[in-house]
Amino acid sequence: MRVWHEDDDFWRTMAPYLFAKRRWEDAPTEIDGLLQLADISPPSGVLDLCCGLGRHALELARRGFRVTAVDRNAEYLAQARTQAEKEGLEVEFVQEDMRRFRRSSAFHLALNLYTSFGYFEDPQEDRQVAQNLYASLKPGGNLVMEMMGREVLTRIFRDRDWQPTDDGGFLLEERQPSSDWTWMNNRWILVKKGEVKEFNISHRIYGGADLARVLLESGFQKVMLFGDLQGSPYDHKAKRLTALAFK
Ligand SMILES: C[S@@+](CC[C@H](N)C(=O)[O-])C[C@H]1O[C@@H](n2cnc3c(N)ncnc32)[C@H](O)[C@@H]1O
Repeated sequence: MRVWHEDDDFWRTMAPYLFAKRRWEDAPTEIDGLLQLADISPPSGVLDLCCGLGRHALELARRGFRVTAVDRNAEYLAQARTQAEKEGLEVEFVQEDMRRFRRSSAFHLALNLYTSFGYFEDPQEDRQVAQNLYASLKPGGNLVMEMMGREVLTRIFRDRDWQPTDDGGFLLEERQPSSDWTWMNNRWILVKKGEVKEFNISHRIYGGADLARVLLESGFQKVMLFGDLQGSPYDHKAKRLTALAFK
C-alpha cells in the first residue's frame, strides 16, 4: 500500500476539507503577511513548493509576481492551471517531488506552506527538501515555511475531534504522538452518505529549534521564527510555527 502522502485517493477525497472555502478566503491575508515578512515586491520570482490547488500561487500571480508552483499531484496541478487560465494568469506549474525539485539560484522567495514539510520517515529526506529550497534561492533570497509546531500542538492537543463537514458528513480525527513527540500518527475517518473512508496520516512534528537547526544546517545564514504569517511572536499564543530563513 502506498504511503499516505503518495496516495492520490487521499488527496482527492480530502481536498474539499483541506481546501475548504475559508482556507481560500485566508490566502490573500496570508500573502499580505508573508510579503511583508520577506519584504518583497513584484515582479520577483517566487517558488511555491507543494502548491496544492494553488491558493497562494494564484494570489501571487494576481499581484504580478512570476510564480513557479510545484506539486507531485497531477490532479491538483490541473485544477490550479484551469483556474489560472480562467483568470488569464501566467503561472508555471511543475509536477515534481519536493525531494527532487531544485532550480539553481532561480527565485527571490520560496514558500512551503500549510504543513507541507515533515512527511518523510527518514529525516534525511526532509533535509534534502530544505537543501533544495536553499539551492533554488538567489543569494539574498528568503524562504517562508509555515506548519503546525510541536510547542503549539502540545498546548492545544486533543486526542480526538469530530467535526461536521460542509457537505453534510463528519470527519473524525484521532491523534497519537510518538513518545518523544517528534512524530504524530493521525487516523482520519470520513463518514459521508453512509460511506466510511479511513486514512492513516503520519508526519514529523518540528519544534522551533528543530526547524531552525535543519534550515541552518541546509545552508541558510539566519532563521527567524514567528507564530503566524503576520509576524506574531512564536510564543505561548502562537498559532503556527512559521520560519523566515535568509540565504
Ligand atoms: C497540506 S497541502 C498544502 C497545499 C498548499 N501549500 C496550500 O497551502 O494550500 C500539501 C501538498 O503537498 C503535496 N505533496 C505531498 N507530497 C509531496 C511531495 N513528495 N512532493 C511534492 N508535493 C507533495 C500534496 O499534493 C499537497 O498538494
